[in-house]
Amino acid sequence: MNDQFGRNITYLRLSLTERCTLRCAYCRAGEGVCPKKSELTRGDFLRIVRAFASLGVDKVRLTGGEPMLRRDLLEIIRDIRAVEGIREIVMTTNGQHLPGMSRALKEAGLDRLNISLDSLRPERYAEITGGGSLERVLTGIEETLAEGFSPVKLNVVLLRGQNDDEVGDFIELTKHRPVYVRFIEYMPLGETDRADLRVTGGELLRRFPALEAVPPIYAGQPSRDYRMPGYVGRVGLIDPVSHRFCADCNRVRVMSDGMLRPCLGSNEEFSLKLALKSGDDEALTQVILRAIRLKPETHCFSEGFAAEKNMSHIGG
Ligand code: GTP
Ligand code: 5AD
Ligand code: SF4
Repeated sequence: MNDQFGRNITYLRLSLTERCTLRCAYCRAGEGVCPKKSELTRGDFLRIVRAFASLGVDKVRLTGGEPMLRRDLLEIIRDIRAVEGIREIVMTTNGQHLPGMSRALKEAGLDRLNISLDSLRPERYAEITGGGSLERVLTGIEETLAEGFSPVKLNVVLLRGQNDDEVGDFIELTKHRPVYVRFIEYMPLGETDRADLRVTGGELLRRFPALEAVPPIYAGQPSRDYRMPGYVGRVGLIDPVSHRFCADCNRVRVMSDGMLRPCLGSNEEFSLKLALKSGDDEALTQVILRAIRLKPETHCFSEGFAAEKNMSHIGG
């Protein structure tokens, strides 16, 4: 269905949990182990997806925190797969729990995976992620490629002075393998903006002038896409701050605490909790309709936006 600015909302980002075993520098650095807060149940997620599907949503992305920490992940995927109208189920993961799971994910009905990978150097990876194992993610990536997931997208959040010297190495990953490396501008969420850390897409194009623009895979995707001549994979630039893509936005978010957030970069939220508790699916649909209608025109990242939640809570 359309919002008040004529944008057709077809994409739901569903955060399955706030929990995560990593502490990424740009996301939840310095936080301790997160207490287990109450999370929506498998049945809640199914009702939410059905309601969105009835309003024209055809793509669901599972996010977190780390969605693979949900013990019922495979059941949730199977449930969503059976919902009429859902064309695509995808997941964004940090890859730490991926080894050994690719086949089961595929069999459950997952279509695609986006995997966070902020460095190709083991010690640096551990430092940026607060203790993550590079070997585990790389193993997970190999297994997803072997399982035939396509395209496998690698999300690299660039942080000036910390990993921006590895852009060339990441681009080289696309030489022989069908991976799609996306460089993401650091966004101010859950903290005051550290604009000094941000590396813009424009800067990358100046550093790598050989990158050739290629058409997007789907209309309204956040990244602008490029390819090195002769390379198999592609390179994407996601730069929401320096290069707004809000006019084409097609998505809203539901978080594991039952709140619906129409825009990543605006604190406005709508609660689905009452409607879920009452078991009234019509009431659920009405709250969703209202939230979509009232989706903000654009984010406030450049206007001193202070998010009340961090990215791991919202799910990116
Ligand atoms: P595809 O379906 O593969 O195109 O994935 P995606 O790019 O929608 O999802 P992913 O979870 O991989 O997100 C990649 C990066 O883009 C993350 O840093 C997200 O926070 C960011 N992102 C995704 N959607 C939006 C959005 O609507 N607004 C902004 N500002 N950033 C977004
Ligand atoms: N800015 C940009 N991207 C971020 N992500 C998490 N926090 C930030 C941030 N502050 C990315 C993760 C993951 C995706 C869901 O969001 O790396 O790939
Ligand atoms: Fe959509 Fe908000 Fe992201 Fe802009 S910042 S693209 S409006 S979710």
